[in-house]
Amino acid sequence: MALPEWDGELTSVRYDRGTGAWFVVGVHSTRLGPASGGTRAMVYPSPDVAVADARRLAGAMTSKMAAAGLPMGGGKSVIALPAPRAELDDATWQRILELHAANLELLGGNYTTGPDIGTSSADMDVLAGLTPHVFGRSVAAGGPGSSGPMTALGVFAAIRAGAREAGFDGVDGLRVLVQGLGAVGADVARLAAGAGAKLIVTDVDPARCAAAADELGAEVVDTGAVTTRECDVLVPCATGGLVTAEVAATVPTAVIASAANNLLADPYAAEVLRRRGITYAPDFVANAGGAIHLVGREVLGWDARRVADRTEAIGDTLAGIFADARTRGVTTVEAAQTLASRTLTGGQ
Ligand code: NAI
Ligand code: PHE
Repeated sequence: MALPEWDGELTSVRYDRGTGAWFVVGVHSTRLGPASGGTRAMVYPSPDVAVADARRLAGAMTSKMAAAGLPMGGGKSVIALPAPRAELDDATWQRILELHAANLELLGGNYTTGPDIGTSSADMDVLAGLTPHVFGRSVAAGGPGSSGPMTALGVFAAIRAGAREAGFDGVDGLRVLVQGLGAVGADVARLAAGAGAKLIVTDVDPARCAAAADELGAEVVDTGAVTTRECDVLVPCATGGLVTAEVAATVPTAVIASAANNLLADPYAAEVLRRRGITYAPDFVANAGGAIHLVGREVLGWDARRVADRTEAIGDTLAGIFADARTRGVTTVEAAQTLASRTLTGGQ
């Protein structure tokens, strides 16, 4: 496998024959502090796709920490599983976590992990028994608990800021389409419904859709309709890569506010959205509530109120990004990167 160039600091890659899992840690930058970012555990088509994903996600964490003003660098772990997590027996999963913890120990505190797709606070509790380089333990184990609710609060702030930028008067009555009803999406759906949105939802898990229909009166659509169904605000809360340049050219929405990391499959998609007048709240700004929760509680000693206030302030950060993009005639991604770069170049 030929490894492409990368502007990050370090990639560690390990294969374990016993479990059949590949372990990748990407440390993109420690410029602002030790790197941090979650552990993503899922099946990948090949180890090199897993390495590329870890590196891209680690880079996004650097931008996220910088744009949110957090004193941390960017990193990410990917565990490429031999089979879907639900099909692994407990002993195999335990062994995978032990190996992951051993890899984290080797990085000696230059990288601290946390939850992401395929891992939970309960998994962080197990890792924390083996290495101190872990954020996001459960409340029962003395940690701050899931980052999902704060991520959702920040994404909701992004929905409101995006709607304002697009000329809407609040969220009441807007058609808000939420893709993915997991730890983040389910709470985003509740917040949007609570603010009077006409909720449209989709998830590969029909039970999650049924619950949103029952609890919130949401309309359920097919997963394939996510980029073709007309709405006012599209809120991707599943995996990244949904918006290609082609999708950007046709997606029938006025605003996109993304929880999903690396939403744009192609950097040019941001320019296509700009030309179409679609307000895009960049993922690494909109979804920073989880990082604010984990770093705020576990590094900076903030209480829950302060974490929530800083998370709600994502709306103000985005308003500044939208204004800068408008003034300079650049994409919102470029304006957000400018904000992050200013912090990175002005940091210690
Ligand atoms: P999760 O795994 O709890 O939920 C994801 C949901 O998306 C699941 O319900 C799943 O069934 C659904 N899904 C998967 N593929 C789908 C598809 N093609 N169409 C429709 N639904 C699909 O994950 P979580 O924690 O809610 O995260 C969602 C996204 O937000 C991820 O991209 C994650 O990286 C990102 N994120 C999460 C943060 C957190 O604090 N949990 C923080 C920042 C970003
Ligand atoms: N994985 C989440 C994210 O992408 C939460 C997280 C933030 C985990 C910071 C670890 C560190 O933001």
